[in-house]
Amino acid sequence: MHEIDAAVMREPERLSYESVQLEEPKPEEVLVDVRATGVCHTDYHAYTNQEIDCPVVLGHEGAGVVEAVGDRVTAVEPGDHVVLWVLPSCGHCEYCSSGQPYLCPKHTETRGRMPDGTTRLRGDDGPINQFFAQSSFASKAVVPERSAVPIRTDVPFEIAALLGCGIPTGIGAVTNTADVGPGDDVAVFGCGGVGASAILGADLIGARSIVAVDIEPEKLDAMRGLGATDVIDASSTDPVEEIHRLTGGVDYSFECIGRPQTLEQAFESLGRGGTAVVTTTKDTGTFEIDGGAFPRGVSIVGNMVGSIRPRVDVPKLANLYAEGRLDLDALLTDTYPLPELDEAFDALRDGDGIRNVVRMA
Ligand code: APR
Ligand code: ZN
Ligand code: ZN
Repeated sequence: MHEIDAAVMREPERLSYESVQLEEPKPEEVLVDVRATGVCHTDYHAYTNQEIDCPVVLGHEGAGVVEAVGDRVTAVEPGDHVVLWVLPSCGHCEYCSSGQPYLCPKHTETRGRMPDGTTRLRGDDGPINQFFAQSSFASKAVVPERSAVPIRTDVPFEIAALLGCGIPTGIGAVTNTADVGPGDDVAVFGCGGVGASAILGADLIGARSIVAVDIEPEKLDAMRGLGATDVIDASSTDPVEEIHRLTGGVDYSFECIGRPQTLEQAFESLGRGGTAVVTTTKDTGTFEIDGGAFPRGVSIVGNMVGSIRPRVDVPKLANLYAEGRLDLDALLTDTYPLPELDEAFDALRDGDGIRNVVRMA
């Protein structure tokens, strides 16, 4: 049993910073000394969700050092630097077996607990729920072996934490879900963490036009530095008309906001044969598309966490960063110490910056 520091949510929107107990890892689990954890909208949705099962420790974009491993663990060993991947997967269902672990139903079945349905966290008054089988707003975490993805040791932990969910969702939307090729024209709606990552991904691949759309001029300015060739302030300009004027209609559009209106705009911005990618996993609500568009060969597709295969794609992204080819530094706005997680949530709510990270020490 380990005494750890954790941000415990005992009721919605109320965090208390406590010392709690963490059990030893079971045979197929890993104990990780958490160093940094990204603050994601998915945490914030849980933080404000009045129905959530409390007490719970949130945090699903962790990075740290393996401290101990269960008897049957073979993929990592103590001392390895690991990214804690958001989605647990079983490794043997039809989706895992066909290289689509992002579609594995294991996570929804266990509702965020460990794959066996239990939790390794405990307070004085009983069990504390785990979040995405991770709960990394804490000094240590026990996670399933498959969730601990080893990467090179020269990537700072606050950058490694960016590789756990939101950033790969944007990059993978471009590289995996959509398969953008060199010379393609791309539009990105919404320039938060996910949209900015989609722009980085499109630049990496060598897209021709990369049109960034947002309603905040300072976000748009920042996107030019990431590779956007054109920017559109949708609060004053109709983005659909402007995208058609600039490109004649894009090959791929990425909706990185999650609103019906911008989903419709992303679809209407397509040229012949174009594909609109709905990057978010949240319920975007009902939206209207004109069925008359389909004879132009257009399509609209979902994007489950960038279609990322963690052990394949996450180390590659870490390599690209370390080699200076993927500017993840530009996505990191601020770091907060763990006891200031509620302030990091306030910043997220207010739309301040691209991406914030909590540091454990
Ligand atoms: N048109 C263009 N841009 C918009 C609009 C609009 N109508 N409304 C909001 N935006 C911009 C915001 O200004 C912000 O820059 O969209 C961006 C959204 O970014 P974030 O809030 O930082 O969200 P992000 O972390 O990138 O996640 C994107 O995925 O998981 C979901 O809930 C999450 O809906 C969010 C989406
Ligand atoms: Zn996330
Ligand atoms: Zn599976």
